[in-house]
Amino acid sequence: MTTQGDIIRLENITAGYLVVKRGLKGLLKERRIVLKNISLAVRDGERLAIIGESGSGKTTLLKVILGLLKPFEGKVFVAGKDIYALKWGQRILVLRQVGYVPQDPYRALNPSIRVKSILEEPLEALGIGDRDARVREALRLVQLSSEVLQMYPSELSGGMRQRVLIARAIIHDPEILILDEPTSALDVSIQAQVVNLINDIHRKLGLAVLTVTHDLGVAQYLADRAVVLYRGEIVEEGDMDSLIKHPRSDYTRILVSSH
Ligand SMILES: Nc1ncnc2c1ncn2[C@@H]1O[C@H](COP(=O)(O)OP(=O)(O)OP(=O)(O)O)[C@@H](O)[C@H]1O
Ligand SMILES: [Mg+2]
Repeated sequence: MTTQGDIIRLENITAGYLVVKRGLKGLLKERRIVLKNISLAVRDGERLAIIGESGSGKTTLLKVILGLLKPFEGKVFVAGKDIYALKWGQRILVLRQVGYVPQDPYRALNPSIRVKSILEEPLEALGIGDRDARVREALRLVQLSSEVLQMYPSELSGGMRQRVLIARAIIHDPEILILDEPTSALDVSIQAQVVNLINDIHRKLGLAVLTVTHDLGVAQYLADRAVVLYRGEIVEEGDMDSLIKHPRSDYTRILVSSH
């Protein structure tokens, strides 16, 4: 069952990868479970952080949400639709509600494609028209000038690349912006700018923002509510302020005390 008002809802997700092992009778496929019994919701328009250390399963969780990794168990609802029960074509239509900024801005952009084409790519894939106006508006929102359109990714700084990736993620007007470690590859001086930009976009567009991060400070700036993931399980969930003031799980306490 889905509740109206949740742009994303995960119900009892157990997920991971099939890995090939050598057994007595030859090669065997074995389940490597990364996420265990995860249930969570992102409400319309809210800012939620998923906090977890490296290897805790954050990117795996995003793959499940993005329709790229079918869970072993459980259901994923995006905009109220059970996405893994849909055919591929319908799944794409539902995922139009989602904008995604991948983990590493240095590897995420195709080096041989100019920024203009990078921004137009999702519009083409989704069959959305009015491309010039959308490109202009997305650039305005990420505060880049139109000069970048003719540039290649190698000509951009890390901060500019991240802005291009954010522009690409919002260009089709999604209901949720999902960011995987949005600041960890950036210089400290640029991190605050990117965080402010994300909050600015949230205010202007009113979309939900889901940030995954290992950094409690980043979560504090980018979210009102947080879920703490430890070794693939949710160990704590709550309002950001009370989570920092009154951490309940041992792992959250360690996070807070080292912050
Ligand atoms: N394609 C894959 N096949 C098998 N195991 C994988 C695969 N991708 C990730 N894993 C394993 O799943 C676990 C979780 O990885 P994941 O990338 O989701 O973590 P993460 O929290 O995003 O880490 P980081 O903060 O370093 O990005 C790790 O142990 C990783 O080795
Ligand atoms: Mg990751």
